[in-house]
Amino acid sequence: MTEKFGKTDLETTKIVYGCMGGAGAFGAQEETDSIEALREAHEVGINFFDTAEAYGNGYSEQLLSRALGDKRDDIVISSKVATQNLAPDDIMAACERSLKNLGTDRIDLYMLHWPNREVPLADSIGALKTLKDQGKIRWYGVSNFGRDDLNDALALGDVAVDQLPYHLFFRAIEFEVQPICKSANVPIMCYSSLMQGLLAGKYRSLQDFPVDRARTRMFDHRKWADVVHKEEGAEEAGQELLDALWKMVDETGLSMEELAVGWLKSREAVGGVIVGTRNGAQSRGLKKLLDVQLDADVLASLDRASDRLKQELGADIDMWGKGRTR
Ligand SMILES: NC(=O)c1ccc[n+]([C@@H]2O[C@H](COP(=O)([O-])OP(=O)(O)OC[C@H]3O[C@@H](n4cnc5c(N)ncnc54)[C@H](OP(=O)(O)O)[C@@H]3O)[C@@H](O)[C@H]2O)c1
Repeated sequence: MTEKFGKTDLETTKIVYGCMGGAGAFGAQEETDSIEALREAHEVGINFFDTAEAYGNGYSEQLLSRALGDKRDDIVISSKVATQNLAPDDIMAACERSLKNLGTDRIDLYMLHWPNREVPLADSIGALKTLKDQGKIRWYGVSNFGRDDLNDALALGDVAVDQLPYHLFFRAIEFEVQPICKSANVPIMCYSSLMQGLLAGKYRSLQDFPVDRARTRMFDHRKWADVVHKEEGAEEAGQELLDALWKMVDETGLSMEELAVGWLKSREAVGGVIVGTRNGAQSRGLKKLLDVQLDADVLASLDRASDRLKQELGADIDMWGKGRTR
């Protein structure tokens, strides 16, 4: 089932397939698995695919073309121009590269991946408008834009989306950004909807979560290598939430993915819930996520269970480091 995506004329499924992991973001990845994962996601009914030039330096876009090039007219493609390429000439060149990688003549939704303080936003939005006028992109938007950046972008152009980190372990956007998205009819595409696998029902303890994925502000920076932030995290509140989720899995008979995605689908202004998989079997599991709808009492329990962590992590919408977004 599809629905109109915000102010656009795109008809999209609420579940969006996330192409980052297929390009190796989570470690060694067989290309045959990535291709099968994409084809199975389409087979179960997903028509919305999210990629970026930054994922494998174009490789993720190429994989999408290889897997579903023959289905181009059936699917909606979103891609993103990398932060270092937001000057107008660089955006134009990046879009040409992405079109070539994707084997298509238009990108349905094209986003600025992260804000870039070195380039005036008006210049970047101006380039996006030109690309739209040329028919190379159908709609444009932003990603990782907080309250002030989003308001600036809205004053400059017809922003069609803000792609943001949003899931039960990270509700920062609810403080200031989600209300703007709601009132301006800017759908939120939620990323890391399964918290990179923590919400896929495989881990009983935060300590079991792979070290190279424990990079968000919820984790204590002293425990794990290679983290951007320098905070002590909120692991006690995080473990409390994980325990509550396992209890709800037992009580409701629903899987943790169904709880996580069902909750996101119910939230205001959410236009797409992005989920990434690594192989065909995981993609077949997306079918139940397309269908899931949670009862009001389950939703209320999830709200309550995740509120302490939400308060402790606060309103900064950057999941990995503080002070980079505004
Ligand atoms: N705009 C941005 O800045 C930004 C940033 C990050 C992500 N994104 C987008 O969001 C997408 C998704 O986010 P994400 O990549 O962070 O990860 P995610 O969707 O939160 O989690 C993906 C992981 O969940 C596990 N999983 C999924 N389905 C499963 C199943 N049926 N059974 C068991 N495990 C399952 C897999 O873990 P294993 O690997 O352990 O199998 C998979 O790698 C990305 O692909 C990308 O499109 C955007």
